[in-house]
Amino acid sequence: MKPTSTTVAHPIAWSAPVSEIEVGHSVKFHICWRGSVVEAFVINFRGHYYAYINYCVHAGTPLDWWPNEFFDPERRFLTCGTHGSLYDPDTGKCAGGPCAGRSLFPLSVRVSDGRVIVTPGALA
Ligand code: FES
Repeated sequence: MKPTSTTVAHPIAWSAPVSEIEVGHSVKFHICWRGSVVEAFVINFRGHYYAYINYCVHAGTPLDWWPNEFFDPERRFLTCGTHGSLYDPDTGKCAGGPCAGRSLFPLSVRVSDGRVIVTPGALA
């Protein structure tokens, strides 16, 4: 699902209506994180929202195997298009492949007034 004109970009926060992030789908955006503007994505996994930096902790490439495609075919795991690492969508922890023992960089997500709001969080 592509971001639409109702998507709001901001250096330190990003938000979009919940209706624009369907179950099993994702939206990419940019956000200020650790002093740089980086690409990130938010997913709707089984009705809950999670967001991560678009960066595979194995070799540092973007995760999406096709533009804005992060889920495996069963929509159970996030998968890296470069070497096939699998990540748990709700924790960002490696679930298999060359990312063993590591985790995606998470962002803070909350829902307010019908919008999903993503911020860098306390660790950024
Ligand atoms: S860069 Fe993602 S699995 Fe290698």
